[in-house]
Amino acid sequence: MSNRLPVDRIVADDGSEGWKVSPGGLVTALEPVMRSSDGAWVGWAGQPDLELDPFDYDGMRLVPVQLSKRDVEQYYEGFSNDTIWPLYHDVIAPPTYHRVWWDRYVAVNRRFADAVLDIVEADGTVWVQDYQLQLVPQMLREARPDLTIGFFNHIPFPPYGIFAQLPWRKEILEGLLGADVIGFQRQSDASGFARAVRHILGHVTTPTIEVPVADDDAAATGRSKKGRTVRRVLAKAFPISIDAEQYAEMARRPDIQARAKQIRQELGNPTTIMLGVDRLDYTKGIRHRIKAFGELIADGALEVGEVTLVQVASPSRERVETYRQLRDEIELSVGRLNGDHGTMEHAPINYLHHGYPREEMVALYLAADVMLVTALRDGMNLVAKEYVASRNDERGVLVLSEFAGAADELKQALLINPHDIVGLKRAIVHAAGMEPREQQRRMRALRKRVLEHDVARWSSSFLTALAATRHPEQVPAVL
Ligand code: G6P
Repeated sequence: MSNRLPVDRIVADDGSEGWKVSPGGLVTALEPVMRSSDGAWVGWAGQPDLELDPFDYDGMRLVPVQLSKRDVEQYYEGFSNDTIWPLYHDVIAPPTYHRVWWDRYVAVNRRFADAVLDIVEADGTVWVQDYQLQLVPQMLREARPDLTIGFFNHIPFPPYGIFAQLPWRKEILEGLLGADVIGFQRQSDASGFARAVRHILGHVTTPTIEVPVADDDAAATGRSKKGRTVRRVLAKAFPISIDAEQYAEMARRPDIQARAKQIRQELGNPTTIMLGVDRLDYTKGIRHRIKAFGELIADGALEVGEVTLVQVASPSRERVETYRQLRDEIELSVGRLNGDHGTMEHAPINYLHHGYPREEMVALYLAADVMLVTALRDGMNLVAKEYVASRNDERGVLVLSEFAGAADELKQALLINPHDIVGLKRAIVHAAGMEPREQQRRMRALRKRVLEHDVARWSSSFLTALAATRHPEQVPAVL
């Protein structure tokens, strides 16, 4: 279960209704996993007050949960995206704490839990996804101790000093600890969580977290050193990935390769195409990227017409004030840069405020000589992995922020600190001038990593660890 289903309900201008792929990395990662499983996906269809029955879509069983307009405002835009999201992303934007938002978060988490309880079989497995649903594991555990419950956090988990701000920190930790396995993107996220559990709840956290339970609790899994009955919870990093072969395959299609050439032509055949692809979010470092690129143009280190930056910024959370402000700021700086340095033929930045189908994205990846991922904080950043998986030709340069989870794995990228504008500019110039041989050496190593560690491997390693916590006898001893 996740807040969003893999598709959003849309109503076209002519009144006709249909479905559109939902935004974000969670859906990109989980869709292939759910297509090859016989489970159901419980989530919201992206519009308020929609009453929908469970249905089948593209090989998946989807079970919609209804959210009212008020739920969307207080649970989704409010507590999820204006409290937890900024808090968990290094407080880049200030989190807002509202008690009514919290109350609504509790109520909506309860509704999601109930939707699962209606359909899950005895001894079933439930895998809860992401920060919008952190209370669900405990709610499920209390109602049904027979269930095996996993939780995966797609976004960062903050350091203790930041997490401690949250007025409901204890409730959130207890909610998560209802799970048998809690997965994080990076080792540092898992350590941050364990530290918060130690400080706030006082539980033993190594090697597993020991949650004290009653002696007759059906979910008990062991005894602590002091002889207390406990449930053992595993909190560990499971870095998420993509269906890498699907991207490599799309990149081999002649129509997509032709489209890549066409894009290059339409951009006026520049020597170097740079690309940024992000949800329009303040965590993505889009402003830092534009600043560095703009300075390079102004300095004359990059020349308009020779170099073009294509920035795809897909619309996101547009009713949340911080996101509105960010859009204004970015559009102001793009307009200024293009106004100051554009010519009749060329604009330095080609800014696109749309989402695009996957095929078009792969064509863009193939057209891009340099991919810029400059996130200030990011759970993983799957765009970086999509770019790498698409480059069968072993060309192209990935510039990657060390603050994205992907940096733990993609070490042959040009790793940068986006706050260091001088360092970022240096990396962009290095990328633009990189010899094909160095591009190939780096890209080959990056591709090996992404193709070997794909999303199927991620889900099976998580689910194997999950099965092992409840039924160790059924799992091979390799874990
Ligand atoms: C990130 C989150 C997802 C979320 C997605 C899109 O990837 O981890 O949980 O669904 O962003 O954001 P949205 O608010 O549009 O669902």
